[in-house]
Amino acid sequence: MRPSVRRTAVLRREAVIVTVPVALAALLAAAGPASAGPIGSAGVGDPYFPLAGNGGYHVGHYDLTLGYDPGSRHLTGKAVITARATQRLSRFDLDLEGLKVTGLTVDHAKAEYRRDGQELVVTPRHTLRKGERFKVTVTYAGKPAPVTDPDGSLDGWIPTDDGAFVVGEPQGAMTWFPANNHPLDKSSYDFTITVPKGRTAVANGVLLGQRTKNGTTTFRWRQKEPMAAYLATATVGTFQVEQYTTRDGIKVYDAVDPREAAAAKPVLKKLPSVLEWESKLFGPYPYRAAGSIVDHAPNVGYALETQTRPAYDRAPDLSTLVHESAHQWFGDSVSLTSWKEIWLNEGFATYAEWLYSEQHGGPSAQTAFDELYQRPASDDLWAFPPGDPGSGANIFGTPVYARGAMTLQVLRTAVGDRTFFRILRAWAAEHRYGHGTTPQFVRLAERLSGKDLDALFHTWLYTAGKPNTP
Ligand code: ARG
Ligand code: ZN
Repeated sequence: MRPSVRRTAVLRREAVIVTVPVALAALLAAAGPASAGPIGSAGVGDPYFPLAGNGGYHVGHYDLTLGYDPGSRHLTGKAVITARATQRLSRFDLDLEGLKVTGLTVDHAKAEYRRDGQELVVTPRHTLRKGERFKVTVTYAGKPAPVTDPDGSLDGWIPTDDGAFVVGEPQGAMTWFPANNHPLDKSSYDFTITVPKGRTAVANGVLLGQRTKNGTTTFRWRQKEPMAAYLATATVGTFQVEQYTTRDGIKVYDAVDPREAAAAKPVLKKLPSVLEWESKLFGPYPYRAAGSIVDHAPNVGYALETQTRPAYDRAPDLSTLVHESAHQWFGDSVSLTSWKEIWLNEGFATYAEWLYSEQHGGPSAQTAFDELYQRPASDDLWAFPPGDPGSGANIFGTPVYARGAMTLQVLRTAVGDRTFFRILRAWAAEHRYGHGTTPQFVRLAERLSGKDLDALFHTWLYTAGKPNTP
């Protein structure tokens, strides 16, 4: 629309000022995330979760100070986020869903901010230079609520009858702290969590200390190795706690809801031997800490490979423990760059279950494969190809887990055991603490086997329907 009547010189000048940056921003946005535009994008470009994460900076460290009262379900938080600008930044976003922001500074100076859905839009007083390190401090409070994922599952801060079960895959981290909420961004974390005396707050990494004073207990946790936001936890409850150090020097911290203890204890006891077994297959365990959180969270329906210390919504069986432990290599240490490639997490963790069975007197991986392959073409297993789930609603679907694992079995058959296990170890080693993509995995498998594997992966990862040949 042209404001032809009121067009004056002054207005025209304003029009120019408005139009040029908009056109420029559009141009830069079209140039992709590597562009040097002054505004950080609202997402990292994930096709399934377009607003997940944010462009323009990397978070090096989150220092989270939380207080939670299970009775009123009230959370108070302070997040000190140390980041580095990857472009000139006059404005950037954090992801935060719900809660009320009570204060925000950038480098100790009050910064303007506004809320727009899950985007917390921050305008620092000064434009940040490319490469500049900066510190964002956000204070916030409120009653956190989980998000409902595209598949209908709950994710994030999930209140329980005695605390909260806190898991964030794929989106829920932003329900309890402001984050660059995409696995592309990995950071170290410190947690200081205060809960009523008698409750325990369990996060990732090593317990630095705990202190009870005036009816509350404060737990301090440190996660030094890089971690994606979705793998962070701050699960609160009434827990039986057990701590010990493994033969390999890994610090284990188990927190178990008493209602689940009888069923959980015999399984959790196997954690050191599972981690040792996986270390032989996949290479050294990536973290200095380990353990399990076994909650009683009947409305959740899944476990999560929260880094160093998986969170189980109930007492896990042994294959679930093996699965979440395998994720410490595949998913946690080697992370996704896009949710679309979730088979790199779930296919590998499922395959670890098959291997465990095979090497512990159960059915072999080939038997698991054969049984699945017998399923008719109409079965859910063949509903979509695992390398291309099609939408965020499918990322935890059967094809991702089962056909993802089948893909690895087909690869193993094609290259032989020796090469196959070398590929798994090289994958974990070469991408340790970083990221890996499907094309990188295919190239690695081809490099180590000396074979052309394009057709194999094309069929098993990307072709719709049941493959004709196993
Ligand atoms: N990664 C988890 C696993 O090991 C599943 C997480 C499911 N998350 C969800 N929001 N449904 O299987
Ligand atoms: Zn999994």
